[in-house]
Amino acid sequence: MATVPNDHIIRILDSAIRVAPLQVEDNWRLQQVEAALSLVHLSGEKVVKIGEVFRSEVEKGIHEQPSSLQMENTYIPELPDGTEEGLFLALDLGGTNFRMILLELEHGKLIREEVKHYHIGEDMRIGCGEKLFDYLAECVSDFVKEQNLTGTTLPLGFTFSFPMIQKALDIGILVTWTKSFNCPSVVGRDAVQMLREAIHRRGDTHVEVVAVLNDTTGTLVQGAVLDSRTAIGLILGTGSNACYLERADKVQHWEVQRHGEKQVIIDIEWGAFGDNGVLDFVKTDYDRQVDQNSLIKNSFTFEKYISGKYMGEIVRVILQKLVKDGVVFNGKASEKLLTSGAFTTSFVSLIEQDTVDGVGNNTKDILDKLGLTSDEDDIEIVKYICEVVSNRAALLVSVCLAVLLKRMDRADVTIAVDGSLFKHHPRLKTWMNKYIKLLAPGKKFRLLLAEDGSGKGAGLVAAIALKLQKRFQET
Ligand code: GLC
Repeated sequence: MATVPNDHIIRILDSAIRVAPLQVEDNWRLQQVEAALSLVHLSGEKVVKIGEVFRSEVEKGIHEQPSSLQMENTYIPELPDGTEEGLFLALDLGGTNFRMILLELEHGKLIREEVKHYHIGEDMRIGCGEKLFDYLAECVSDFVKEQNLTGTTLPLGFTFSFPMIQKALDIGILVTWTKSFNCPSVVGRDAVQMLREAIHRRGDTHVEVVAVLNDTTGTLVQGAVLDSRTAIGLILGTGSNACYLERADKVQHWEVQRHGEKQVIIDIEWGAFGDNGVLDFVKTDYDRQVDQNSLIKNSFTFEKYISGKYMGEIVRVILQKLVKDGVVFNGKASEKLLTSGAFTTSFVSLIEQDTVDGVGNNTKDILDKLGLTSDEDDIEIVKYICEVVSNRAALLVSVCLAVLLKRMDRADVTIAVDGSLFKHHPRLKTWMNKYIKLLAPGKKFRLLLAEDGSGKGAGLVAAIALKLQKRFQET
């Protein structure tokens, strides 16, 4: 296929990514808002450059050269093939809640699913690692008892949605915490081992942790059950990350014996893209401020541009600046507007809904709830900021997905997606479809919602792990 020259793509992008102009009565306010947002808008040229930088970081990461992308081998060399059978547990840890799930598979199909949500308070998320894992084991035990399965040996797939160095399918050394967790004593340790030890300390169940996986991996695997063309897994939720099927011969980091694998899932950990400075040309003062307000500073640069934990916060710091300059809310902030985290990404989705519908009171209601007195222009400005920030996220995600599609060289790829941001934002998907098409011309793809990949996928990965164990023992 002939490649489309970059300047052509840049020209098309520049006209395609333009958001609807801000409509306000007061020209001074208009100019102030545009000046404040000038660096948040991405030009076609910048987008193409981001793609080039991402491609180079992917290449370096896979060759184990210094890169902000981990490109971690997950040791999952195959997708479900309809032979998965039996009872499996899944433990899904990543957000502020975690879940225990019991899955029963018959011929690869889910015939029964029991789910229980457990809350993890801040003292658990930010504190002593042993305490966290003891609590996880307590919940495992509670769930198994509730299901009347204490005497049964149960394989468990552990979805641990944090960056790990994987030494095998059941070894995951935590690199750093992200999102809302920070238990420093776990960093550098094997999360599987810690969970196993905590389960054994209790000694009241027969649960065996057979695999550890990332939520993107679970999403890809679950996506493959829904659509066999699935070859990319994407999470756009509290955090953001993607994984994809790579040719095994291209993968250098492989710590266990190879068994003639043809492909393997690679967890990119793209949240950390740019942590080495390669994305500094995208960074605005607002992004710096969001990073400074975050739990773990100077890390997960890309995630802080695009994901649910941070998008609302970007809007909040922009608004804070505009209040200071007297451009919005008559120059008066409220206590909530000055509180980090108070403007959530769910607000951004609701405000975007007003823009998409052309009517609606979400924006006004949210500003009232935040204790802000707003006029018509304020409302338009807030809607515009949400649009610009959301649009930037859509572009950033799309350009990376386009690079993957080009790299994978498959005729047709389904991208399995999960995550609250993707599900609730009213037009992220539409933008992504449009931008990916422009950035990867001629590539056939679709975005498929694969709900609960981190839960169902964990059960499926546990089943694959058992199949592999059996096969390798026989050979
Ligand atoms: C964070 C984690 C990553 C996970 C993503 C989505 O980026 O580091 O492992 O996949 O969040 O939950």
